[in-house]
Amino acid sequence: MIDRYCVFGHPVAHSKSPAIHAAFAEQTGEPLEYSAIEAPLEDFTGAWRRFVAEGGRGANVTVPFKEEAFRLCDTLSERARRAGAVNTLILGGNGQTDGDTTDGVGLVRDLKRHGVGLAGARILVLGAGGAVRGVLEPLLAEAPASLFVANRTAEKAERLAADFRDLGEVAGDGFDAVAGRFEVVINGTSASLAGDLPPLPDDLFAEGATAYDMMYGADPTIFLRWAAERGARTVDGLGMLVEQAAESFFLWRGKRPDTAPVLAELRRALAG
Ligand code: ATR
Repeated sequence: MIDRYCVFGHPVAHSKSPAIHAAFAEQTGEPLEYSAIEAPLEDFTGAWRRFVAEGGRGANVTVPFKEEAFRLCDTLSERARRAGAVNTLILGGNGQTDGDTTDGVGLVRDLKRHGVGLAGARILVLGAGGAVRGVLEPLLAEAPASLFVANRTAEKAERLAADFRDLGEVAGDGFDAVAGRFEVVINGTSASLAGDLPPLPDDLFAEGATAYDMMYGADPTIFLRWAAERGARTVDGLGMLVEQAAESFFLWRGKRPDTAPVLAELRRALAG
């Protein structure tokens, strides 16, 4: 029986993961099948168990199941424990379910691929939801000078920062508390979806700063347009998507795919 993998989501039809993993499998010669499965909202755990019974060896997990996936795991990586969410399920040798999250590594890899220096940098992260919680541990592991979490709801940013304070110089507050200049500004809010821009000071970019939006689309997000007008270099989240997939693939198969051609193809498809 061929090893089966999938992405669980709801909805999931739009997911690019099947195309990405098919490309990785072809490139590495790994025999596997990867599909998209819309799990029922009320029974994600049952969907995973059924998938395993049918030859499933691992899965990616996307909205809205990352927290439920976290709860069903028998073992968790440290970064998944910190994130409170799991985007990668791995069927272990004893039939146990191991959970990990690759979103944060994906972000860090993509930033590095763009030549963005994180060590010693002043990093500003916008948002304090699940997406941001998932990336803080890998960002702090790069030893930035400081990391400031700014959020519409200030208390959420404060609480989030407190949860990671043992890992580095982290603080959290509302957007009105953003002060100083930053080498790296990462938008992890879902504000772009609504065409909204977080209220930010005009002068927050340091010389040569990079603005990163964890979202992506055919056109630059409103945040990236705003950042470009203020002189920042801009990067959208398509690379993060491909890098997190590559890290999941590595966890399952022990092989690291070359992400560049896969990203280039996705970019072409998005533009076309
Ligand atoms: P996700 O899993 O994508 O992080 P989430 O946990 O619902 O989703 O978090 C959404 C984030 O986007 C939050 O930080 C939210 O701010 P609040 O905590 O104040 O709700 C932020 N957000 C959503 N819409 C926004 C908007 N229009 N302007 C600014 N921030 C917004």
